[in-house]
Amino acid sequence: MTMQRSLGVCYYPEHWDEAIWMKDAADMAALGLTWVRIGEFAWGRMEDAAGNLDFDWLDRSIKILGNAGLKVVLGTPTATPPRWMLDRHPDMLAVDEQGRERKFGSRRHYCFSHEGYAQECDRIVEEMARRYGNNPHVAAWQTDNEYSCHDTTLSYSSAAQSAFRNWLRASFTPKGANDGDISALNAAWGNVFWSMDYADFDEIDLPNLTVTEANPAHLLAFRRFSSDQVVRFNKRQCDIIRAHSVAPITHNFMGQITDFDHYEVGDDLDFASWDSYPLGFLEDRVNAPEEHKRAFARQGDPDFQAFHHDLYRTVGKGRWWVMEQQPGPVNWAPYNPAPLDGMIRLWSWEAFAHGAEAVCYFRWRQAPFAQEQMHAGLQKPDATPAPAMAEAAQVAHELSDAPSVTPAKAKVALIFDYAADYMWSIQPHGRGLCYFDLVFQTYRALRRLGQSVDILPPTTRNFEGYQLVMAPGLMHMTEELKTALTQAKTNVIFGPRSGARDVHMATPVPLPPAISKLDVTVEYTESFRSDSPIELTQGGAFQGFREEISGAADVIETTQNASPAMMRSGNMSYLAGWPDTAAFQRILKRELQEVGLKTLDLPMGLRVRETGAERFWFNTTQETISLEGRDFAPISVTRDAL
Ligand code: GAL
Repeated sequence: MTMQRSLGVCYYPEHWDEAIWMKDAADMAALGLTWVRIGEFAWGRMEDAAGNLDFDWLDRSIKILGNAGLKVVLGTPTATPPRWMLDRHPDMLAVDEQGRERKFGSRRHYCFSHEGYAQECDRIVEEMARRYGNNPHVAAWQTDNEYSCHDTTLSYSSAAQSAFRNWLRASFTPKGANDGDISALNAAWGNVFWSMDYADFDEIDLPNLTVTEANPAHLLAFRRFSSDQVVRFNKRQCDIIRAHSVAPITHNFMGQITDFDHYEVGDDLDFASWDSYPLGFLEDRVNAPEEHKRAFARQGDPDFQAFHHDLYRTVGKGRWWVMEQQPGPVNWAPYNPAPLDGMIRLWSWEAFAHGAEAVCYFRWRQAPFAQEQMHAGLQKPDATPAPAMAEAAQVAHELSDAPSVTPAKAKVALIFDYAADYMWSIQPHGRGLCYFDLVFQTYRALRRLGQSVDILPPTTRNFEGYQLVMAPGLMHMTEELKTALTQAKTNVIFGPRSGARDVHMATPVPLPPAISKLDVTVEYTESFRSDSPIELTQGGAFQGFREEISGAADVIETTQNASPAMMRSGNMSYLAGWPDTAAFQRILKRELQEVGLKTLDLPMGLRVRETGAERFWFNTTQETISLEGRDFAPISVTRDAL
């Protein structure tokens, strides 16, 4: 399968005088853009009062863009319900953990569980799908905008409460029965513990504002329920659009948002997309030492974007875009520097190297009003070019040399599970122990060793073609996943915390990890101060967390106190702690070499990625880097044919 590469931009016709639309469209086309995404916040212009629909302006805008040769991605506007919506549905707002309503005046002000609001969304999406479903210029759809951004998945509203009770009742209704079995819930949750038994599903509250911690089973159920609400909300829109349009549907996901199962939302989409803000993410999200943040302040983390590119390639089942690409300083991180010259181009090519079909810059023109005045675009507010414009033009020009991509399967896979993230956050066992970080550090270590990596969901059953599969931190593993991994003809590294809990957050007996053919048992787990690592005999250390393990498997790593740190049976290993950078590099290098993969020792700012026909090198440092007799210029993209 070969896919075309293209560029696009996010545009808000409703922000500008109509007199400028024609020139904007002509300039976008002249720049070499293919796509323009519009509409996703424009509900207030489509319907300024309940039932008072006006799509004429949108018709004209789509026509102008289409006539200029651009393809439109039309966004549904459901992330920004207009003010009048609250008069119709006063209880539609989400409620935070402290029980406070999250008010009107910005965006994403709705609760996923509010059925009245969901019906309003059905209505506006239906209007749009009917009107534009066969429009020749509408070539793709985007549902809503960045589910969960601004912490909007979890809501403690009364709508969420009754939906949660129904969800629990349904989950505890045995096959063939017509009502839920509350005693089964009490048993599964261990409610005997503090006399927490319920007599009826309607007695169960949301797990906020409890005196001390809520039952982890209760918390996990709420997290799974909340994820399902997002999936359901998105699917409603997809179903409506598909009834009227054959254009593909996407959603623009975000970076390091783990509050809902993105794979499940992805199942209802035709392709995935995400919004990549490397400098904002580095300051705002990446967990790394200050000196790392200083060194990459104007380039972004060398692995963070790549991780999400690889993740969303899987969420989109091979098809994905960057829907919003940072074009200059943003407005929302603790510091908002300008990228170094060449970074907009580098980020664009990095996405293409990971298989993106399109990269769209956010946004065409910087807004002179409201919340994002301090956020760059390709143009300044006066419609003159901003620094990113020239780099976008360069990428557009360069695409003629490499117009398509043939994706390739990687040799190394890394399993990433949203539910594992819920479970670690409910029961971290120690300060700073975060599943996303564990997975990301594993990914970084593999990339420093020169690997291209595929990220896989926990529902994967076929691991054919992979030489090494990493399965860190999967706190709950289904029997199907365990079986698929034990039968895979590949090396697998489990741990820490593999299979540590059952599906309801209880400790299974026999004790974890209970993986057949891997004779390892976790005797106990401990967390410890991050400034007191436990050294490993062969180098490096465990930081923050380790497990005491025993069993008949071979001991291949030990701590300095002679406890087993890694054990192996055949092609399966168990890593009993959280390795620091040195331990990760050393252990993974050995494992990769053992399965016959060539490793590199890349410095932090140099990365490599292969597609089916190309090998890309990215140097995000300001120095020339020499590797194996080759020089990579500062801030550069090097593309070799394979
Ligand atoms: C994204 C969002 C855009 C815009 C942008 C600013 O998260 O989807 O609408 O707000 O951030 O960086």
